[in-house]
Amino acid sequence: MQAPPEEDLPRHVAIIMDGNGRWAKRRGLPRIEGHRKGADSVRDVTRASRELGIQALTLYAFSSQNWDRPLEEVRMLMALLRDYLVDERAEILDNGIRLTTIGNIDRLPDFVREPLNALKDDSANNRGMTLCLALSYGGREAIVDATRNLVEQVMAGEIRTQDVNELSFAEALCTATLPPLDLVVRTSGEQRLSNFLLWEAAYAELYFTDTMWPDFKRADLMDAIAAYQNRERRFGLTSDQVKLRAIAPK
Ligand code: IPE
Ligand code: IPE
Ligand code: MG
Repeated sequence: MQAPPEEDLPRHVAIIMDGNGRWAKRRGLPRIEGHRKGADSVRDVTRASRELGIQALTLYAFSSQNWDRPLEEVRMLMALLRDYLVDERAEILDNGIRLTTIGNIDRLPDFVREPLNALKDDSANNRGMTLCLALSYGGREAIVDATRNLVEQVMAGEIRTQDVNELSFAEALCTATLPPLDLVVRTSGEQRLSNFLLWEAAYAELYFTDTMWPDFKRADLMDAIAAYQNRERRFGLTSDQVKLRAIAPK
């Protein structure tokens, strides 16, 4: 398969990995089998992203709202997450990938948090690609956290109220160290953000596919990137303005 032109590669791709349960149900399997298969897609898509030269890949693995699923499913998801961290550790380190997280990881059980923190620490200096796992993550919660962070800075006299602006807000968000979000992919035919990267997605391109996450592989990522490369990102301007800027960038 031909690699897409590098110059308009999205810097930061985020994926809502959805449809594991339906994938399993259609095959008469328990939901957990869909989640297990989904881990193979994570590996495939991470490898492909690294090879393509994408700077950051954020994967929505578990939302704040997913805690309300049946206890048995949550338990199995946590066990799978631990297996993933143990199984992928060597590959992540060998490929120079920096693992980070967004979300409230304090809520994760110790048997997940310990290998997670170890891998985050051990990969912190890697520069190959950032793999960011959204775990116990909610976009509204993240905005509230950033707001609280800024309010505390104002109260402590570190910044003034007038210093609260889009830039300082973005810096207070948990995604501050990631490149701007260019592309959001959602699998399984659903067309919603489900509380994912609400602030960051303001001008991201959205790509929806009917493919269920366990079936989403390297070729599907290439399709999403090709679709992205055919979009015209106007950021509020007219098409003519955008074309002029492409010729004579400001
Ligand atoms: C996505 O698949 C994985 C998680 C949310 C953890 P789902 O489990 O949501 O699968 P469907 O949407 O029920 O098919
Ligand atoms: C979003 O999928 C969360 C993850 C993929 C981790 P959900 O399946 O939880 O979202 P809804 O419930 O369909 O909105
Ligand atoms: Mg779902």
